[in-house]
Amino acid sequence: MQKIKPIKTAVFPVAGLGTRFLPATKAQPKEMMPVVDKPLIQYAVEEAYAAGVRHMIFVTGRNKRAIEDHFDTAYELENELEANQKHELLALVRSLQPEDMNLSFVRQPRSLGLGHAVLCAEHLVGNEPFAVLLADDLMVGPTDGLPVLTQMVRAFERLGGSLLAVQEVPLDQVRRYGIVAGDTVDGPHNERVLKVRTMVEKPSPENAPSRMGVAGRYILTPGVFEQIRNQPRGVGGEIQLTDGIARLMRTEAVYALQYEGKRYDCGSKDGFLQATVELALQHPEVGENFRRYLHDLKL
Ligand code: UTP
Repeated sequence: MQKIKPIKTAVFPVAGLGTRFLPATKAQPKEMMPVVDKPLIQYAVEEAYAAGVRHMIFVTGRNKRAIEDHFDTAYELENELEANQKHELLALVRSLQPEDMNLSFVRQPRSLGLGHAVLCAEHLVGNEPFAVLLADDLMVGPTDGLPVLTQMVRAFERLGGSLLAVQEVPLDQVRRYGIVAGDTVDGPHNERVLKVRTMVEKPSPENAPSRMGVAGRYILTPGVFEQIRNQPRGVGGEIQLTDGIARLMRTEAVYALQYEGKRYDCGSKDGFLQATVELALQHPEVGENFRRYLHDLKL
């Protein structure tokens, strides 16, 4: 049996324009918007690190320099905190750069679509399976369970094929998602896994093959690059990742994992607000006061 390679690399496509969040995203990346006290991109990087990933590749575009700065050393700030004996804050700032974590940045020169953004990272990923995390999908694992990407890495270690995170979505929302339909998979621990048969990007409710919507977490085999390179433009004239994965299915098994946990679509105002309220309620520092504040609001 072929040995399944570990997932050591993650790609973070952060080159989108964030039009749903204008004007906030006019001059700053949407991935830097904070939910309580952490920017979205940091939640995603921490999720990848917790899953064992050590090489983080950011596919960036114009106006995204703040992301590079966020994960870089901030000498003046660190000197200042050190001089003022603010050790906790210093440790917090430094915790963004674990010594065993490597970062790479590559530009997507034009927003040609998510598939194209992933393709821009090909030369950095090489011939290895890799994860893709869309930071605007903030994923929170179950309270006593594993973070979502860790659930996926565990499933990949059993299955060995590309894997998509999926959740059931309401029928009137299927056109916002890539939708998959598939068959159950045998074997222990595979209750939540489907072998994908069909995959469609943003279908109308009438054409949706199911209600299983893809969330912004993927584990992909490197074969996907060739598929993306050779595919025609898809929905909205964009080079879609979904199309590349659908083509990959002709030659390789592709699976979907119904993850445990909750997804907040922080690229939309609704999802961002929901994440802010729910994560603030759980926050060790502000949670209790915030709960009281909400309770006293006359809604
Ligand atoms: P979205 O569909 O959320 O697009 O992309 P967007 O441009 O960021 O936001 P809206 O819809 O205009 O508000 C999903 C993910 O793919 C990345 C985005 O950064 C986001 O993480 N993306 C999308 C790219 O990196 N490049 C692209 O060309 C398109």
